[in-house]
Amino acid sequence: MKEIRTIGVVGLGAMGAGIAQLAVEAGYEVVGREVTAGLGNAAADRIGHFLTRKVEKGQLGQSERDAAAARLSVTTELAALAGCDLVIEAIVEELGPKRALFAELGRTVAPDAILATNTSALSVTEIAAATDTPERVVGMHFFNPAPLMPLVEIVRAELSSDLAVDAAANVGERLGKEVVRCHDTPGFVVNRILIPLLNDCVRVLDEARVSPESLDTAMRNGAGWPMGPCTLVDLVGIDVHVHAAEALYEKLREPRMAPPPRLVAMKNAGLLGRKSGRGFYRYDG
Ligand code: 3HC
Repeated sequence: MKEIRTIGVVGLGAMGAGIAQLAVEAGYEVVGREVTAGLGNAAADRIGHFLTRKVEKGQLGQSERDAAAARLSVTTELAALAGCDLVIEAIVEELGPKRALFAELGRTVAPDAILATNTSALSVTEIAAATDTPERVVGMHFFNPAPLMPLVEIVRAELSSDLAVDAAANVGERLGKEVVRCHDTPGFVVNRILIPLLNDCVRVLDEARVSPESLDTAMRNGAGWPMGPCTLVDLVGIDVHVHAAEALYEKLREPRMAPPPRLVAMKNAGLLGRKSGRGFYRYDG
């Protein structure tokens, strides 16, 4: 089994930063890559903030916190990931940029390094096909917010090797996650179910003529969801959800997969949820 010591994370948005946080907490050296130094430093600050909150709440010692924070370095250069044993990609959910990145990563890292994508709904096989070595490419699909959600799906693409799948699953376990292994089908396990379900929730808003608050109250109290669907879509990001729904619809051609027009209109208007300050709800600061 390949030993993983250093993990590269490409893209330090909500998902990438969460994954990087988990990795430094688990004792890995982490090299995070963002397109600008400003974005990289902002992500490092956010990770530092969440680690500090854990100290304040007695979940982490101060010296462990400082050691974890020191294991993270941020860069704008992909070449700085050359020494990584595993690279996890968490960039924009579009096939073209992901394929271009994987082609470059394949030339950057050592021949036995493993490459993983955190894609929500794109084909891992199509991403892997952009490299000369698709056998070392797998999916590692984390859930938002990555430090809090216990699951990681380990996705076997058409040509993934057992070695790559096992190494990724081991890392998932060391990150403290419940690991579910699955094959590379549209939406894998969770999003294949959750995305059409959230689409239905949004359609019910109009059909049953209820407010987002009422729908959220109904699903929290009538179905035991930890957060209501409108709050959840705001957390995930309206743009991210619409993108994932479009990707699933393109592959499966099932009407329930298609994003409801109301969500598409919100996305086009820049109402992206928490990250833009407004989605179904308004957020301060
Ligand atoms: N990163 C790191 N730490 C975070 C964090 C983040 N993004 N967000 C919160 N925390 C920390 C904070 O320090 C917070 O404590 P603080 O407020 O005292 O500082 C602490 O976690 C606990 O936060 P909460 O009190 O908000 O935790 P809750 O007990 O309310 O649980 C939850 C939050 C786990 C998010 C819960 O509401 C939940 O399970 N919601 C459902 C989320 C879900 O379904 N996610 C999946 C989305 S689908 C997806 O991701 C797939 C993708 O492909 C689209």
